[in-house]
Amino acid sequence: MSKPEPFIQVENLHRHFHMGSEVVRALDGITFAVYPGEFFGIMGASGSGKSTLLYLIGGLDRPTAGHIEVQGRALHTLDENALAVYRRFTVGFVYQMFHLIPSMTALQNVELPMLLTRVPRRERRRRARELLEQMGLAERLHHRPTELSGGQRQRVAIARALANNPALILADEPTGNLDTRAGTEIVALLRTLAHNEGRTVLIVSHDPAVIAQTDRYIRLQDGRIVEEGTP
Ligand SMILES: Nc1ncnc2c1ncn2[C@@H]1O[C@H](COP(=O)(O)OP(=O)(O)OP(=O)(O)O)[C@@H](O)[C@H]1O
Ligand SMILES: [Mg+2]
Repeated sequence: MSKPEPFIQVENLHRHFHMGSEVVRALDGITFAVYPGEFFGIMGASGSGKSTLLYLIGGLDRPTAGHIEVQGRALHTLDENALAVYRRFTVGFVYQMFHLIPSMTALQNVELPMLLTRVPRRERRRRARELLEQMGLAERLHHRPTELSGGQRQRVAIARALANNPALILADEPTGNLDTRAGTEIVALLRTLAHNEGRTVLIVSHDPAVIAQTDRYIRLQDGRIVEEGTP
């Protein structure tokens, strides 16, 4: 059997920041591929370029040089509107700090991305409910973030990331604010999204126990890949 086409192809990617007379090479020539349905880890010390890489793949930022293809589409060819459509329909983001809206219930938080994509109200409500149930939160639909545990908040955030049925999930240190047990559950959940639902999932972590759960990983150091492996 021939190898499938990469879901993500990153080619000699650079992202430099000019700070006065200094140039920070947050990414300094990165090339790798991720295949459909992979649970893919990105590790590296603080400041090694992990978040910068996720922002670029997620279409939140543009590279200084090099390019990224997702499902065969070169992101640099997309204008701002097309990139916004890409972010809304293809990508789901999960963050370390959850980034839920404090005044909204779990249900409302999950409905929010579907408001942006104009899903009708009834369907929005149905889908949000279904996703929260899938995350084991059927009993917490009307709780606000402050009325939920850290692990529960992150599960709401994952449900929100899934709202528009994205093929790609980008999770930046999703276990960074959780205890070991809740963190393990979140990693298992994200892994399921790759292995059972066929989504491609990138997870940033500095925790070897998290990386051990991935199919494959890269390690960044000073904006370069210094290690590629399978746990
Ligand atoms: N907007 C910016 N302007 C200037 N420098 C930046 C900017 N964003 C990131 N950097 C620099 O680029 C480098 C990589 O940052 P990045 O946030 O990608 O690191 P990281 O690996 O995610 O670190 P952490 O584990 O602490 O989250 C750092 O040296 C950072 O200071
Ligand atoms: Mg980071």
